[in-house]
Amino acid sequence: MKTPRTVLITGILGQDGSYLADHALRLGQRVVGGIRGELSAERSWRLDHLGITRHIEFVPLDLLNAASIDHAIESTRPDLIFNFAAQSSVGDSFNTPIATAEAGGIGAVRIFEKARTSGNKIRVFQASSSEIFGDITDSQHSEESFFNPKTPYGATKLFAHIMAEAYRASYGTHVSTGILFNHESPLRGINFVTRKITNSLTKVKLGLIEGFSLGNLDARRDWSHAKDFVTAIWDMLALDTPDNFVLASGKLTSVREFVDLAAQALDIELSWEGSGQHERGIDRRTGRAVVTVNPEFYRPYDPAQPLADIRKAQRVLGWQPQHSLQSLVDEMVQFELKQLSPQ
Ligand code: GDD
Repeated sequence: MKTPRTVLITGILGQDGSYLADHALRLGQRVVGGIRGELSAERSWRLDHLGITRHIEFVPLDLLNAASIDHAIESTRPDLIFNFAAQSSVGDSFNTPIATAEAGGIGAVRIFEKARTSGNKIRVFQASSSEIFGDITDSQHSEESFFNPKTPYGATKLFAHIMAEAYRASYGTHVSTGILFNHESPLRGINFVTRKITNSLTKVKLGLIEGFSLGNLDARRDWSHAKDFVTAIWDMLALDTPDNFVLASGKLTSVREFVDLAAQALDIELSWEGSGQHERGIDRRTGRAVVTVNPEFYRPYDPAQPLADIRKAQRVLGWQPQHSLQSLVDEMVQFELKQLSPQ
């Protein structure tokens, strides 16, 4: 592959887009961020945190608007496109199924279509999700497994995933996908459970709040560091043949266990009492319930996550994740302490 010069990232203001931009800049690439609406300090905080905002060119790009995609691609002439933009919350997708499908589904196809017709031999990465597997937990899941999503978000991601395969097979378009299990970091949005936990528990530790509520504590997820994913994602587009790759750690951890890890990192001694909606996480030193369960945070449908089979990414990409779950939690907690502690 010729050395890529221009990298267009959709969703550059999100966690994955920010880390990918950082990675590409470190490799000396020209990075263009496609953004919907105006850039503001409130929206660019992740790029600001990484210290890279001023090294990025921004171009208007709205996945709901084909003309804006055409303009973004024609005016910047990317060699590589990383499509991270989407409505990325499974929980929110229950309330916004149409918007979720339009941006994450049709929006992705608009990117593939422009890449196909531009004549520039653009390589595309599409962010697929472990939500495309749905509720199947009987065995390890790989790129070849059966897909059976049941959430609006999962169904949308599967549509885009299959369209990526269709573009490869029908037109020879160079589209690779990453079937991404959960990936977290200090740059995660606060609406996702890991960041909600590290942020809220740190506030408890600092005396800023008395406690907080979660939904399904028994939900098990495969959590990795987002930084480990972007290196694999970058390497995917260096392959001559586009393909699909599962990225994950291969280990499942419950929400309750994640709370325990965050509590340990903050030196909070936590014990659990009760069950179901009455379960509570008690701070043993103060006797206070710092974690309670609120059914408001339950989902209408919360598929169990399968065990991931990551052998293909290891074999083909030579991928080896560098972060353990404990080091991820520690990093997130340190970030919260720095942000929230009085100066
Ligand atoms: N968000 C949230 N808030 N989730 C909670 C809460 C809460 O208060 N309490 C329990 N949970 C449970 C959810 O029910 C779910 O089972 C689990 O925590 C993880 O929820 P999220 O962090 O919102 O992530 P997700 O698994 O739904 O989706 C993420 O991972 C997918 C890949 O598997 C997102 O990053 C998706 O974009 C991604 O595709």
